[in-house]
Amino acid sequence: MRAKNYLKKFIEGIPKAELHLHIEGTFEPELMFKIAKRNGVNLDYKNIEELKRAYNFSNLQEFLNIYYAGCNVLINEVDFYDMTWEYLKKAKEQNILHTEIMFDPQTHTDRGIMFATVITGIHKALTDAKIKLGITSKLIMSFLRHLPEDSAFETLGQAVPFKDWIDAVGLDSSELGHPPSKFERVFQKAKEEGYLIVAHAGEEGPAEYVTEALELLQVDRIDHGNRCLEDIAVVNDLVERRMALTVCPLSNLKLRVVEDLTKHPLKEMLDKGLFVTINSDDPAYFGGYINENYIEIQNALDLSKEDIIQLAGNSFKASFLNKIEKSQMMNKLKEFTD
Ligand code: HPA
Ligand code: ZN
Repeated sequence: MRAKNYLKKFIEGIPKAELHLHIEGTFEPELMFKIAKRNGVNLDYKNIEELKRAYNFSNLQEFLNIYYAGCNVLINEVDFYDMTWEYLKKAKEQNILHTEIMFDPQTHTDRGIMFATVITGIHKALTDAKIKLGITSKLIMSFLRHLPEDSAFETLGQAVPFKDWIDAVGLDSSELGHPPSKFERVFQKAKEEGYLIVAHAGEEGPAEYVTEALELLQVDRIDHGNRCLEDIAVVNDLVERRMALTVCPLSNLKLRVVEDLTKHPLKEMLDKGLFVTINSDDPAYFGGYINENYIEIQNALDLSKEDIIQLAGNSFKASFLNKIEKSQMMNKLKEFTD
């Protein structure tokens, strides 16, 4: 019991980076109701309790339906600012030094919200976080894979005036039936424009989608990647490339990618030499921010203090920071662990 408490405190204090976080997935019910009222928008749920009761998902699609519905209340730049700022305050409390957040422009532009409104609100909060909280960040623009290729191309075009604010492009939403190959040409163009590349693959989709992300999209990092374990050739390829995977334990539990955290493959991934990190994905919906993800998976898999140090170190090494910034962060980690 004492050992458990000690590791919990250790996890809470250890400096870390978050690399897989959908900013729309940090939208807490309390703030959602507040902004809905401010904007005169009706939610389908009478109150916070009723909304929270709906957070009981059987798969990714059931979650996405509720996640997109929640986004309907986001109208003005200040709404995007407030949502992002709330997350960043939480990140500070949890000793996140650096965060790489995703946003889904199409979720908003498809409702008639301007691309500029969305990105300006998020960007202003990220700038304030650097100044007021000392948290650095990167921004990842993610395409919705259930929409057609031309919509992703259109979004890439809308991003041009804001290129300096965007570091990478990603691919999220409903995975099954929407393989990475559907977006090969969009990612080719994004790469030519100088963006780094990430993609969700192997969350619900097969190991083959991980290979497609590697070979067709030429990703710099894979989001999730769990199902790579079903094909040893894919595992070996990931290890050889030293390709980082952004694993999200509580997300996997809530979306029933695993039936129980004790059956989560994180330890197996570490043992196979995969370059894994721990992240929260959509913390407002999945029952915990990054520290809760570390604490619950540590508990379920009986991870050691050394495992935790390795995972926190991996989070900096797998980030899109430059070499000097990475070594500064690793020094802070070392100061904490020594
Ligand atoms: N998976 C895929 N798409 C998403 C997710 C996720 O966990 N969260 C928000 N969009
Ligand atoms: Zn995700």
